[in-house]
Amino acid sequence: MGGEVRIIVPHKHKITKQDRAKRYNQRPAIVWFTGLSGSGKSTLASRVEEILFHQYNAKTYILDGDNIRSGLNKDLGFSAEDRQENIRRIGEVAKLFVDAGLIVLTAFISPYRKDREMVRNLVDDGEFIEVYVRCPLEVCEQRDVKGLYKKARAGIIKNFTGIDDPYEEPENPEIIVDTHLLSVDESAQKIIQYLVDHGYVKPQKQ
Ligand code: ADX
Repeated sequence: MGGEVRIIVPHKHKITKQDRAKRYNQRPAIVWFTGLSGSGKSTLASRVEEILFHQYNAKTYILDGDNIRSGLNKDLGFSAEDRQENIRRIGEVAKLFVDAGLIVLTAFISPYRKDREMVRNLVDDGEFIEVYVRCPLEVCEQRDVKGLYKKARAGIIKNFTGIDDPYEEPENPEIIVDTHLLSVDESAQKIIQYLVDHGYVKPQKQ
């Protein structure tokens, strides 16, 4: 930024995150799904959102890898630096959604521990819920929903997570779901239960 002087004074608006959370009757947070390609992050985020939306009257939004990478982040590739920038921007966007009072679900491989920690540190305590969508590489590769593992094995795609690029497992995630052992609904219920138990959403009266 070549010596240019930048003075930024954020404006304090009258309606706060707390006001919005109270109005929406929920505790805003980021539910951060991380895991290998094909582990089930998007499917699960989608199912959890459906349950939150219909059964808990929650105000939600999903940020999803391939969608964000075709818009906001279409200038980014898959080097460690680009993945870091990908996660940084998503983190900032997710933080805005939390400020807007929403429960935002994100589905990104986010293979680096330090990048996920960066997002955790962007928001207040209790506003980052890390969900490790755990699934053995062999199973993801067998599913190969997008046919990308095949291309990675053939050397057509380079730096593919799990093949010739790292995935750093979460050390202390709030939730682990083993998607090769549980059904989508069982995994979703485990996450819903956590959100109810910790007061993010309230069961609706019948
Ligand atoms: S992240 O590593 O930066 O978090 P992100 O979740 O946004 O990745 O995007 C992953 C998606 O991009 C995968 O589901 C897959 O469809 C596609 N993709 C293309 N190339 C790669 C690659 N080299 N590694 C991983 N995913 C890739």
